[in-house]
Amino acid sequence: MIEARSIGKFFSVVNEKGLAEGLTAVLNVSLTIPDGKIVSILGPSGCGKSTFLEILAGLQAPTDGTIHIDGKLVLEPLPATRKEQIAYRRRYRFISPLANGVFRDRPKHDIAMIFQDYAVFPWMTALQNVVFALNLRSSGRAKKREIEEKALFYLHKVDLAASAHKYPSQLSGGMRQRLALARALSVEPKIILMDEPFAAVDALTREKLQDELLRLWDETGGAGSPITVILVTHDTQEAVYLSDEVIVFSPGPGTIRNRIPVRVRRPRARTDAELVEIQERILAMFQYDINQEADYSI
Ligand SMILES: Nc1ncnc2c1ncn2[C@@H]1O[C@H](COP(=O)(O)OP(=O)(O)OP(=O)(O)O)[C@@H](O)[C@H]1O
Ligand SMILES: [Mg+2]
Repeated sequence: MIEARSIGKFFSVVNEKGLAEGLTAVLNVSLTIPDGKIVSILGPSGCGKSTFLEILAGLQAPTDGTIHIDGKLVLEPLPATRKEQIAYRRRYRFISPLANGVFRDRPKHDIAMIFQDYAVFPWMTALQNVVFALNLRSSGRAKKREIEEKALFYLHKVDLAASAHKYPSQLSGGMRQRLALARALSVEPKIILMDEPFAAVDALTREKLQDELLRLWDETGGAGSPITVILVTHDTQEAVYLSDEVIVFSPGPGTIRNRIPVRVRRPRARTDAELVEIQERILAMFQYDINQEADYSI
């Protein structure tokens, strides 16, 4: 289970006049996501979706609040300099007296993340990309051949076995996304965080990739160890079609505007009346926000 408690993120930035300015990217986000669910975060550009996802993954520290996964605190990577490390210790000691223990015994979380833009390394072949991810996670005892076999197994799952020795630049956009998916799945994570994974492909490929994601989620997570998927998107139809719940962020600072459960059973038809009705409700909400803003400017 993933628990976000009152997450906030404030950036200090220097403007063109050299003055310090602040920007609140995420404000007071609390939510609980049970295991094995697919949850989408939907919202306009710049509303803090990527920032929130990176905080969930432990790649950025929140300025407020905490994330727990299965009851264990998520901590961002240790800072490099001594001065920053002291501030870091101070911060977590402040959050909880247990934090000193946590600091010695940093919890590991089974998370894989697919980033918004650069999902794969362009200088590695498809196979090398997956092997690289597996090597990062393996204990060092795994044999090279076993790792390669596993990488090929996951490339096969996303229909890329024949392109194992191609470089990302030799793959189509949809294939690159599938490669990113294979890499994330190969480490057999409990949680996959995806930031706009299908944004760069055409509409038809996108629908195919969505169905593949559902199939892989079902196959790999089906046997007793469900995979939780959290997906950032600004495509309402995609969010509703894929998810058990859609979390709508308001325009910046990102706060939860609505949480909409989607209880339609899978496999779903894209034209399912209930799905379409939910999509229309969400679109009406966005329209309402736009109209409200128009009122302010009068
Ligand atoms: N490192 C940073 N320093 C300063 N401001 C930042 C930083 N990262 C993000 N921001 C700001 O925080 C806000 C939220 O950014 P974020 O990338 O989370 O948005 P997003 O919802 O993912 O947008 P998009 O849909 O366009 O990807 C933006 O206003 C952005 O300019
Ligand atoms: Mg983003």
